[in-house]
Amino acid sequence: MEKLLIEGGRRLAGEVRVSGAKNAALPILCASLLSPDPLRLTNVARLNDVGTMQKLLAQMGVRIDAASPGTLTLDAASIDWPLAPYEMVKTMRASILALGPLVARCGEARVSLPGGCAIGQRPVDQHVKGLQAMGAEIDLESGYIAARAARLKGARIVFDLVTVTGTENLMMAATLADGVTTLENAACEPEVVDLARCLTMMGARITGAGTSRIVIDGVDRLHGAEHAIMPDRIETGTFLAAVAAAGGDATLVGTQADTLDAVLDKLREAGATVDVRGDAIRIRRDGPLKAVNIRTAPYPGFPTDMQAQMMAVAARADGTSVITETIFENRMMHVPELQRLGADIEVEGNIAVVKGAPALAGANVMATDLRASACLVIAGLVADGETVIDRIYHLDRGYERIEDKLSALGARIRRVG
Ligand code: EPU
Repeated sequence: MEKLLIEGGRRLAGEVRVSGAKNAALPILCASLLSPDPLRLTNVARLNDVGTMQKLLAQMGVRIDAASPGTLTLDAASIDWPLAPYEMVKTMRASILALGPLVARCGEARVSLPGGCAIGQRPVDQHVKGLQAMGAEIDLESGYIAARAARLKGARIVFDLVTVTGTENLMMAATLADGVTTLENAACEPEVVDLARCLTMMGARITGAGTSRIVIDGVDRLHGAEHAIMPDRIETGTFLAAVAAAGGDATLVGTQADTLDAVLDKLREAGATVDVRGDAIRIRRDGPLKAVNIRTAPYPGFPTDMQAQMMAVAARADGTSVITETIFENRMMHVPELQRLGADIEVEGNIAVVKGAPALAGANVMATDLRASACLVIAGLVADGETVIDRIYHLDRGYERIEDKLSALGARIRRVG
């Protein structure tokens, strides 16, 4: 199994280009199911999750052409098999995003229930409730959600809690429904806005994306379009956190700073200097790192997907940081691994009290999920000596060539087989 070897203790300096966002690409790939005409996407990052989604769509009958790197053309002229099997869904929960588009376009769909995952239970009751409100008949049979509807009908749907993929699934389904759908308590994440932008290019009528009320006026048919995937705000934040933790002076280009306000604020609070110019963010940190308190929240709050990376920063800061995870019930699995590197962290429930240590020491650690892996990479860059990270396939799900990009900043990091 591949591992990452990191020789820590070096400043990071230079320039890195940010890739297209994983969590925007995944729903947008599923949006191709809504139209019989081709959807051409650019700025698609080469990630394992994107590959898994392509495989899933190809199984359904979508023809996919990857003519040049970062560009995909998806042609769903006919959908032979509106099915997302267990084998695919269990490796990637985001497969649930096929459910809404399939019922809307084909009138039927069978998608496996995702089951639990490393970071928590993550049920899909809100996706199901919304489709039922739109008139779909839903049966849960042998671990599958079977949905049927001759044509979905517009409805007013109030989410019990803020769900990103729930909002995306129902927004996609509603584009082809008969009448107007209103989504209340909708997720405001920038990836929801990017999806709405793509759907609008395909002929959908959507207003309010980026607010908690999204209104979709259903149309009979969507057409082909071309769309560039937004930059990955979590990849951006991960590199910024790495520079803050290791010290240095780096610029991230091709990003979108206004999708990262809460993260930039915390990095400044931690003692980094952050300057935004156009699509670039420059970060410098030479002085002491300061403790920061963090509480994750739906957008525009501090993203749960950056919680682990900021904990690596806090582990090296002067003083005590309190980090509270409010979105997922089991997203502190990086803590025991950080402790192996010498971090002083106590966890009670979903609150971590991090007493910053003057130094971390390299060790063998294990990645448990995508963002926990990113946290360990940052900790490895800061720790003295060698850190070996095992199970890095988690990292490859959501970061494009992370070791190459970090090497370009002067990090000593390499992949070994
Ligand atoms: N929830 C329910 N019922 C539902 C849906 C969600 O109870 O029907 C709960 C979840 O269990 C969780 C909370 O609501 O406690 C929020 O979950 P959400 O549905 O927003 O998460 P998601 O849509 O499954 C997306 C991202 C995650 C990111 C979360 C939160 C994608 C493909 N995934 O997941 O990304 O952490 O939103 O921002 O967009 C990652 O990239 O590492 C990652 C895990």
